[in-house]
Amino acid sequence: MKHLLKLSGLSAEEIGHILDVAAEFKRLHRQGIDPQDLRGKAVALLFGKNSTRTRTSLEVGIHQMGGLGTYLNAGTELQIARGEPIQDTARVLGRYYDAIVYRTFKQSDLEALAHWSGVPVISGMTDYAHPLQVLADLLTVREYKGRLEGLRAGFVGDGYNMANSLIVGCLTMGMTLVAACPKGYRPAADVLFFAKQFGDRFRLVTDPDEAARDADVLFTDVWTSMGMERETERRRRDFAGYTLDSARMALAKPDCLVQHPLPAHRGEEIAEDVLEAHAAEIFDEAENRLHVEKAVLAILLAGR
Ligand code: CP
Repeated sequence: MKHLLKLSGLSAEEIGHILDVAAEFKRLHRQGIDPQDLRGKAVALLFGKNSTRTRTSLEVGIHQMGGLGTYLNAGTELQIARGEPIQDTARVLGRYYDAIVYRTFKQSDLEALAHWSGVPVISGMTDYAHPLQVLADLLTVREYKGRLEGLRAGFVGDGYNMANSLIVGCLTMGMTLVAACPKGYRPAADVLFFAKQFGDRFRLVTDPDEAARDADVLFTDVWTSMGMERETERRRRDFAGYTLDSARMALAKPDCLVQHPLPAHRGEEIAEDVLEAHAAEIFDEAENRLHVEKAVLAILLAGR
């Protein structure tokens, strides 16, 4: 693995290795031990969108591993916000930093950064994918269920970056996934093409109850992602009936997990009582961002 720009292209063994390293780092951290894989290394945290979890978990994780993480506001402060081309920004940052995490809108900008920088690049989320989040989700599900293979997952919501990465991650790891997305909000065409090879382990439906039925884990995400705020009212209408509420949860297995990447919009994609009933695993999921990100950095920069 040279970069982490998306999950497709990674094998089950590679994803499993990331999860194993993350689990080991988590276990060691609980004992007060943090391997110093990033000693003497610097990581640029280039953010063109808001973030709470991704930014803070990376800053803390890099510190724990003995490295330097520099938060760079690409939305308003860097010259890139004034039009400096991505290929120039990439070649400059690549001279200073050992790796770059980039949160931006277009996947093509992330790929350009990886092409031009000469150092490992990690997606901090784009419109297309959110690989670090889904790796944290998979780690959390594996912790609670003891395995991934054979589990039945459901996704209810927008066929956007989280759905794209969940489809690839869950199917690669041997899970079955039913994704329920309204008409007009389907996952990316190349992701649906990728899913075809898994036959009946993947179904795309419009009825959210189908995704919930007999699920071992249910995933959801916000209806209006960053940059789409002008569509909020239309999306509320289009996603009406897609809330993960207690009636829908009753269709799932009694020990069904809920995963939400956060921030959550209570009363939209998830009901308040469902979020609170599943807060333990949802906030474990948030914590696991830290351990997974440390693992990805250690694999890319220290050859773990
Ligand atoms: N889930 C997630 O990526 O959170 P932030 O937007 O707060 O980083």
